[in-house]
Amino acid sequence: MKTDRPLSRRRNILKASAALLAAGLLPTTGSVFSQMLMNRTQDQILGPFYPIMSKPNLTGDLTRVPGGSGRAKGQLLIVKGRVIDPTGKPVEGADVEIWQANSVGRYAHPDDTNPAPLDPNFEGFGAVTTGPDGYYQFKTIKPPPYPITPTITRPAHIHFDVRGRHDELITQMYFEGDPYHKTDPFLQSAPNPEALIVKLSPPVHEDPEFMVAEFDIVFRG
Ligand SMILES: [Fe+2]
Repeated sequence: MKTDRPLSRRRNILKASAALLAAGLLPTTGSVFSQMLMNRTQDQILGPFYPIMSKPNLTGDLTRVPGGSGRAKGQLLIVKGRVIDPTGKPVEGADVEIWQANSVGRYAHPDDTNPAPLDPNFEGFGAVTTGPDGYYQFKTIKPPPYPITPTITRPAHIHFDVRGRHDELITQMYFEGDPYHKTDPFLQSAPNPEALIVKLSPPVHEDPEFMVAEFDIVFRG
């Protein structure tokens, strides 16, 4: 698992790309490179609750905490998908991190002022690394919408930070049917918000207690 701070690494990648563009070393409009960028999963903000105070759960199962008293509260959810490059090739060795609120919309982060209670069996921060097929999977719970001001509520979402050898993608995955999509400035800042929204499916081969969300990631690898 890489330990680079996400933003500093991302800034370096962006700086390197900008420098190459300025030097005329990268092709621009209408090029293969711009086509690749067009296919890339859309960026979203990192948000204020990136879990700087803790280490990610590396088991892939966020519904249990080592030494905890049971399972996390909430609708159990499998989040899975493939990490691929813009040509469709699986990206092996990508580090996929997720972080999210608990079943009542509270982050296990010292800056979250939401009065909703913490869940002692849910820390909401995990990381896995893709294998040769590019697949990742987490067991977690479906978070609800949560208030960010007395008058603004964010739709339910899970944050992603995906790091490869050449690229880093920070985004958020949303859930179909959420009443707060249209009023969310962050989701609506995406050129194609629908592409960040997933539909939950019932389990097929998975544990019957879980619903399933599939979210593929496209980045440069
Ligand atoms: Fe969030």
